[in-house]
Amino acid sequence: MAVNLLLGLQWGDEGKGKIVDVLTNDYDIIARFQGGPNAGHTLEFDGYKHVLHTIPSGIFHKTAINLVGNGVVIDPVILEKELKNLAKFNVDYKKSLLISRKAHLILPTHRLLDAASEAAKGKAKIGSTLKGIGPTYMDKTGRNGIRVGDLELSDWKERYRNLANKHEAMIEFHGVELEYDLKALEEDFFSAIESLKELTFIDSEEYIFEAQRQGKTILAEGAQGSLLDVDFGTYPFVTSSNTTAAGACTGLGIAPNKIGDVFGIFKAYTTRVGSGPFPTELFNDEGARMAKVGHEFGSTTGRARRCGWLDLVALKYAVQVNGVTQLMMMKGDVLSGFNTLKICTAYKYKGETITHFPYNIEPENVTPVYTEVKGWSEDLTEMTDKSQFPKELNDYIEFLEKELETPITIVSVGPDRKQTINR
Ligand code: IMP
Repeated sequence: MAVNLLLGLQWGDEGKGKIVDVLTNDYDIIARFQGGPNAGHTLEFDGYKHVLHTIPSGIFHKTAINLVGNGVVIDPVILEKELKNLAKFNVDYKKSLLISRKAHLILPTHRLLDAASEAAKGKAKIGSTLKGIGPTYMDKTGRNGIRVGDLELSDWKERYRNLANKHEAMIEFHGVELEYDLKALEEDFFSAIESLKELTFIDSEEYIFEAQRQGKTILAEGAQGSLLDVDFGTYPFVTSSNTTAAGACTGLGIAPNKIGDVFGIFKAYTTRVGSGPFPTELFNDEGARMAKVGHEFGSTTGRARRCGWLDLVALKYAVQVNGVTQLMMMKGDVLSGFNTLKICTAYKYKGETITHFPYNIEPENVTPVYTEVKGWSEDLTEMTDKSQFPKELNDYIEFLEKELETPITIVSVGPDRKQTINR
């Protein structure tokens, strides 16, 4: 059975959590394949809002197995908090949550290193979520990391100490003032490790292989967005993992020829948290309105998200890099009431008009070229069927489908599970 992928196509925060939750009824297994607690996947139903950072978004469905794959980095302290929240909602996570032995652990000193590295960068900082993501992936590729499976070895604490000591020396090297109490952080960490050990550790690639053999349906849930991919994103203002489709192969052990549908999620406009170029960013009332109506504040850090018009040059690039087969448009409701909507369909780049995503999209190189379309005034949030869509919304959707050469199969008109319309 093919594995379907669900990915964010912009700079993250597209609403992946909500759509995974909506789609979970169709799947036996939901698997995260990259990123870590820098993600904040929000799900709303029955009047509650849940934010998941490490745990896959299928966890509230009784029958689905949720797998944290080898490509994910896990902070046991954050995971423990997530588990405590789930317990309040009677989720039997000891049965439905599995952890790959090959997933790497975020140590307290990884978080401190993240903070020291960002502080040392000054104005050039990435705007990291400071969850220790970069330093943990550095240790993974540097072959120094500690993996979940290591917790089953007798000498893991010794290895922990050696690595933490090395990190402390690296923190000092950065030469910034950083106040911390490592003993207290370690106390929390070791206590959280005990909670982690109560979960089931598996050889996840074998599990996935066997599940495929048995015809089980699997959805791989991406985190962050394609423009934050360490290879294809707006480097160096990116995260440290492959957020694009290829990341699902390495982050779960899925063979490329076993990938089926690739669902690409995008907002009807664009947002970005943290530093880095953003050609269609708005600094006026229109941007402020998107931020206010769309509640554009980070679900992990609470930071205000930068807002701007939809960038089709970037979106087309993401569709191509991922091989997207179906698009899902989120937050169309936020654009209600704009007389005119702008869509960036090309860039002026070094004196030329281009429609591909170039090496460098810094403002000194790129000016967006806009196509203007008529907006709609109707409130979409109560709509339950596509037949209720205003003409201008249908025109907007059809324009995007034509440009992206990919069908938009779901339109989301609000954060609740119920506010999801199939086309
Ligand atoms: P890091 O992954 O925490 O190192 O952050 C690197 C960059 O990616 C920063 O600009 C973050 O704001 C951004 N980022 C990381 N995770 C997310 C996410 O889940 N949503 C949106 N932006 C993110």
